[in-house]
Amino acid sequence: MATHKLLLLPGDGIGTEVMAEVKRLIDWLNSAGIAKFETEDGLVGGASYDADKVAITDATMAKAHASDAVIFGAVGGPKWDGVPYDARPEAGLLRLRKDLGLFANLRPAVCYPALADASSLKREVVEGLDIMIVRELTGGVYFGEPKTITDLGNGQKRAVDTQLYETYEIDRIARVAFDLARKRRNKVTSMEKRNVMKTGLLWNEVVTAVHKADYADVALEHQLADSGGMNLVKWPKQFDVIVTDNLFGDILSDIAAMLTGSLGMLPSASLGAVDAKTGKRKSMYEPVHGSAPDIAGKGLANPVAMLASFGMALRYSLDMGDLADKLDQAIAAVLAKGLRTADIKSEGTTVVSTSQMGEAILKEMQALL
Ligand code: NAI
Ligand code: MG
Repeated sequence: MATHKLLLLPGDGIGTEVMAEVKRLIDWLNSAGIAKFETEDGLVGGASYDADKVAITDATMAKAHASDAVIFGAVGGPKWDGVPYDARPEAGLLRLRKDLGLFANLRPAVCYPALADASSLKREVVEGLDIMIVRELTGGVYFGEPKTITDLGNGQKRAVDTQLYETYEIDRIARVAFDLARKRRNKVTSMEKRNVMKTGLLWNEVVTAVHKADYADVALEHQLADSGGMNLVKWPKQFDVIVTDNLFGDILSDIAAMLTGSLGMLPSASLGAVDAKTGKRKSMYEPVHGSAPDIAGKGLANPVAMLASFGMALRYSLDMGDLADKLDQAIAAVLAKGLRTADIKSEGTTVVSTSQMGEAILKEMQALL
């Protein structure tokens, strides 16, 4: 049995509470002989600042580089409002993304049957929904130079952001999307604005070329990002994998997320380049939500986003897709039984704490395995 090295970075706020539920699951998988995880704990964000006055230490970064996957909780909170800019909790997250070269952000939007009525859309539109948005994370208009504000001296200012993409950046994200589609329903929708943007033209050209060269077996379609956004709320079940740039992906993934209910349910993955030695991608898995200082320490946090993020690690970094399927089934089963954390409660359901939810999901896993 292969040994998988995981770095667990709970962070602060509810990060530590939801990570405890992942640890509970890992401990059981190890003791039951189902998998072999070697885990190390590290500090990041406010927790790291309190201990070492930096958002993440070089030693922890070295462990991140050496691990098969980083499992990240959440960071931030008013307690660290006054700390130096480079040491603020979010800087730890940014350093991980940058140093690990995590250019592909995977945001699934899955609608659990038991929660179909919690969506902002009608049940029939979202029931059974399972889409994956692949957002380019390290390029585009958030990073392109020049990026300036100039005072024009006549009472006017000029602000410039630059949307910039090169072939290799589009090529590598397209490959991530096509690889994912092959493990799913074999369809990729690429979104850009080739009608008004040069980067859109290049995006379309490169995705098309990658498809033709290496992925002709996958169905590819192109949509303009604005009408793609309309289609997302009109008929989201037409999509399998959506691949798009940093800005459009930021917006479209948030829209898709809300089709499925609470922030406490949403996992994510960030993938980097393939490591020449291991043949695996650098990777980090984290819930979409933050540290939720308003509910931290009260046992109210929904651990599903964190557990589902661990599930994505099983699937995309650790070659344990079957186990990931079981975890998804266990989550669905617990929801179907009416167990809810406070963020997703509705009439006729039973409200449970973070650890009760984690225990219930583990129990379902044990029954399934
Ligand atoms: P947030 O995601 O922490 O919370 C937003 C709202 O959703 C809150 O009312 C919270 O109680 C609720 N919520 C979030 N996760 C939940 C869960 N698992 N279960 C139940 N309810 C949940 O975002 P907010 O309040 O804007 O930011 C709080 C702090 O987190 C800030 O310092 C922010 O910078 C940081 N943050 C960190 C992120 C990260 O670590 N990746 C991402 C987003 C925010
Ligand atoms: Mg966003």
